[in-house]
Parts: sequence; C-alpha cells; structure tokens
Amino acid sequence: DDKKLWGGRFEKPMEKFTEEFTASVSYDQKLYRYDIIGSIAHCRMLTKQGILHEVERDMIITGLESILHDIEHGDFEFLVSLEDVHMNIEKRLIEKIGPVGGKLHTARSRNDQVALDSRLYARDAVKQIIELVRNLQRALVEQASQHTETIMPGYTHLQTAQPIVLAHHLLAYFEMFDRDAQRFSEIYQRVNVLPLGAGALAGTTFDIDRQYVARELGFDGVSRNSLDTVSDRDAFIEICSAASLVMMHLSRLSEEFILWSSSEFRFLRLSDGYCTGSSIMPQKRNPDVSELVRGKTGRVYGNLISLLTVMKGLPLAYNKDMQEDKEPLFDTIDTVVGSLRIYADMICTAAFNAERMRAVAGLGFSTATDLADYLVRGGLPFRDAHEVVGKMVAHCEKHQIDLPEVDLATMQGFHPSIGEDIYQFITVEKSVQSRRSYGGTAPEQVKVQLEAIRSRPEFA
Ligand code: ARG
Repeated sequence: DDKKLWGGRFEKPMEKFTEEFTASVSYDQKLYRYDIIGSIAHCRMLTKQGILHEVERDMIITGLESILHDIEHGDFEFLVSLEDVHMNIEKRLIEKIGPVGGKLHTARSRNDQVALDSRLYARDAVKQIIELVRNLQRALVEQASQHTETIMPGYTHLQTAQPIVLAHHLLAYFEMFDRDAQRFSEIYQRVNVLPLGAGALAGTTFDIDRQYVARELGFDGVSRNSLDTVSDRDAFIEICSAASLVMMHLSRLSEEFILWSSSEFRFLRLSDGYCTGSSIMPQKRNPDVSELVRGKTGRVYGNLISLLTVMKGLPLAYNKDMQEDKEPLFDTIDTVVGSLRIYADMICTAAFNAERMRAVAGLGFSTATDLADYLVRGGLPFRDAHEVVGKMVAHCEKHQIDLPEVDLATMQGFHPSIGEDIYQFITVEKSVQSRRSYGGTAPEQVKVQLEAIRSRPEFA
C-alpha cells in the first residue's frame, strides 16, 4: 500500500511522473540509519515529556529497530510513491505497529527531520574526513623521514629555481592538509548543533525538550531560531568548500606525481597497485589514480557551486529546492573520502628516485642565487650581485658549461672579490645546507619540523 501520508486534502492522485520527479528516495535512503536514530531520540523525549505513553514509546522503538534490521538485511523496499526516506520509514512503521506509529511525527516536521538526518550524516562524514586527512599526513611524514637528505630541484614557473630536499617538498603538502584538517574541525563545531524541534518553520505547540534530544544524540548545542534552522544549509556548503580545498591540494600533488612519473622526469615510481596499462602500448604504466583524483576535483568544485546556487534566491523558510542539497553533498563526501583513502596508500608505497633527483638538481644553474649571496657577503649590494651572476650565467650558456666549471680567473674577471672558496658554496649540497632560516629547506631545519610534527599526538 503506497497511500500518501499527507493525502487528506487531495482529491486526485498525483501524476505518476510527478511522483518520480519530486521523489528523493533513490538517494536519500542513504540517510536511513540517521533517520531511525533521530526518531528514537525524538520518541524518548516525547515520552519523557508525557506526550507519549511508555507503552507507545516501546512499540515505536521496537518497530523502528526492526525496520533498521530489515533495511540492513535487504528486506525493505523503498517506494518512489512514498517520496523520501522519511515517509518510507514512517509508513512502514505504521504498517508494522498500527496507528500508534502515526504518533511518532508529533511535534516534528519533515523540515526539521531532514535537517537532523543530514547533520547526523554530515557529522560522521566530517569525522571520517579528518581521520583520513590525518592518515594521509602520516604517509607524507613517513616518506619525508626517509628523504631529509634527498636533494632535488626546486621549481618556480616549473623552471629550475634552487635545490631543495624531498622531505621539504613532501612536508609542504603536510602543511596544506594540516589546514584542511583544521578547517574540518571548525566545521564540525557548526555542524554539531541540533536542528530538531524547529518544527515546520515556527517551532511547536508541544512542550518538547530539545536539550534532552541534543544530549541523546551527542549534539553540543541546540539551534536558536526555528526559521533559520529549517532553511540553513551553510554547514553543508562549508563542507563542500573545505572539500574543494582538499581536492585542490590533492590535485596539485597529482599533477606533480604525474609529471614526476614521466620518463623525462623519472623522480617517482608509483607502485603497480596504483597504475594501469595500455591496451595497445605494451610499455605503458599510467598514473591513472592521480589523473582521476585531479579530474574528480572538477565535480567537487561543481558541487560547491551547485549548492551555493540552489540557495542563493530562496526566501525563508523551507523550499523544496533544498532537497537538491543531498546529491552534491553525498557525491562530494564520497569523492573526497575515496581520494584521500587511495592517496594515503599510494604515497606509502611510492618509490622516489633519489639518484635521478640529485643528478638533475644542479641543472639550470640552480646555485646561481648562492653565488650572488656569496658576493653580497663580500660587501656587494644584492642588486649588483644579481647583475654580475646574470652575466656569468649568460657566459656559461654561451660556452655550454655549468657554473662550477668556470675557472677562478674567469670568475674574478666578472668580479674581483670572488675567491678560491667560491666552489664550495655553489654545490647543491652546500646550497641546501645553507638555507637554514626557520622554515627553510636545510636538512637540519626540515628535521626540526619533522620533530615538531612527531611531538603531536596524531603523528607520534
Ligand atoms: N525530502 C525532503 C528534502 O530532502 C524532505 C523535506 C520535505 N519537506 C517538505 N515540506 N516537503 O528536502
């Protein structure tokens, strides 16, 4: 029987396609567990407040628990004609326990109910994302610890800039993900506020106890304005926004992994478990995971824009437009969860090619700045030093030699203050060791950062 729970004032049945068009059950059934635990808490509160009898409460809770069991054992058919997860479950409850099941919806509306279910879902999702971000950071720390002395080229404009150590590069991503985890922790505080009790929009005539429901469900607080409560989707937009940043970071890392896996770079070999072959070119090992994560960033950005756009013109309070919040939110969470999960494993099993990185770290006159700094320590203003070294680089390019290959007499021709000791300052090792400023790439500095990270409980 798929008779509508709200059929009272209607004469004609709903058009079949209207049912399909307006239904959300194909995707919001994902919320079933949250819907049921929310209903159980609501029912307990109604009983405590003397609105339901204890016998009624026990029947309702037993009914809801058996529905939960049915759903989890594939013994529940969600009907499109019943529109959404909430009415599918309520209808089944009434079928199971009789008219008393109809008392559950006392002092409640689907508007505060759906806000509750979505928040319970979002709360778990945020917790899971924070845990996965931490995991990914642990993988980065693991690899960084192995590579505090691995010298590689550092780039700006993707042109060789100055040598760095690989650990420094990996820990740059650690920092990005650290901010991501912080953002999600802040969002958690705003998500974890109880919406139930707002009613349809204006509150309820029943003497409910919202604080009690909040405690039952582990919320840190209770929303203050019923109109805002049923028409607010900020928390989900914030999740999509923070998720977009996570994906942006993963996408940049992906871009580097893809580049580094090329035969031109050869900085990185991703484990077989994360590569795919080609159906025609036998030699291929494609970094598909990185490419897909980079590609999926697009849908996460798209979901954020969808949600912002759905909300931008809505008058208070609930509007059916808001049903459109779920697919973007769910898709965002599934995408970011999957991407974080696979990346942590992929990083742990990746093999960095230290020899190759070291071999190319000195290309492109990567220690030219060290030479300029040397002249500055000899008293030359930095701008003049820059000019002198620029000319030396041009000389090298003309003669197709590297900076350390220029003999002392020629060097002194460019500037007389250059001494014999110059050669020890323009090796990549020395260049890296000298960048000892706080937060710099010198291995000793990078180790300071690694130790600070390891002193945090999440990374011990
Ligand atoms: N399925 C609906 C949604 O996701 C539940 C709330 C419906 N409320 C209403 N007044 N039609 O938004």
